[in-house]
Amino acid sequence: MKLGPFKNIVILTGAGISAESGINTFRDSNGLWEQHRMEDVATPEAFKRDPQLVWRFYSMRRLQAAHAHPNRAHEALVKFARTPGHEVHLITQNVDDLHHRADPTDHLPPLCMHGSLNQSRCVNCGTIYFDDHAYFNLKGDYAPQGTILCTPSQKASMDYLHQYKLDYRDFLPLSPCCKAAIRPHIVWFGEIPFHMTKINNLLTDADLFVSIGTSGQVYPAAGFLQIAKMSGATTVCINKEAIPQSQWIDHFIQGHASVEVPKFFESLT
Ligand code: OAD
Repeated sequence: MKLGPFKNIVILTGAGISAESGINTFRDSNGLWEQHRMEDVATPEAFKRDPQLVWRFYSMRRLQAAHAHPNRAHEALVKFARTPGHEVHLITQNVDDLHHRADPTDHLPPLCMHGSLNQSRCVNCGTIYFDDHAYFNLKGDYAPQGTILCTPSQKASMDYLHQYKLDYRDFLPLSPCCKAAIRPHIVWFGEIPFHMTKINNLLTDADLFVSIGTSGQVYPAAGFLQIAKMSGATTVCINKEAIPQSQWIDHFIQGHASVEVPKFFESLT
């Protein structure tokens, strides 16, 4: 398939792009929502009811992400962004930080619309801290220092939570700013994703929109194919299985992200 040339390329990624790095998706068999009820761990109400349970869930995800590495699909996107002649923007629903780690020179900084596993925020004033600790891991204590979820410069910055001498309540740290609870800096069900104004502008300006490894079940991201298509973009979907938005997809490429993503982006250069 030879498409293009394109000038404004917008890419959306979901959990499928990180599956081959060993990170659980949400809705595949053995996915996170088969093992946990999202109402218990991914809503503001759940955090009010049982913050320890919510932190245990995100702590396990931090530990899993800290041991994962970017795969050929993450790397292919960065390689493509480095080639001249087009603008490339990346929107991700993933919180695992693998796009950042595949891109140490920051050629393709992702808009993390669902937040980031390596950040926490004060529930009182909203201050965001880098935080890669696991609370309530399986050993009942903290994660070993030196996880790779926060980079050395994030750990050295004044925004790193554990630079401070922290007070704790119920084994959970209180924010240095307000001495209030801290929560994962993750968008939960019922909350509005981050960067939506910028994302809408990118979608309406795109001449190519590529959706990778997302099931098309969660809005607003599930509506991006339609917005891009109705704004005049060519739309491509790379996924292991069909998704509900087929009427808005010009080219569907079925397969594994680590194989199909490098192949597709090489075909554009
Ligand atoms: P899902 O788990 O819903 O979907 C992952 C998609 O990736 C599925 O359609 C799989 O078929 C596909 N897939 C799996 N492995 C793949 C591979 N190796 N190559 C290509 N495709 C593969 O994950 P998301 O769509 O990202 O939100 O989920 C969207 C949001 O729902 C998440 O960001 C999360 C969740 O609830 C929040 O937590 C707010």
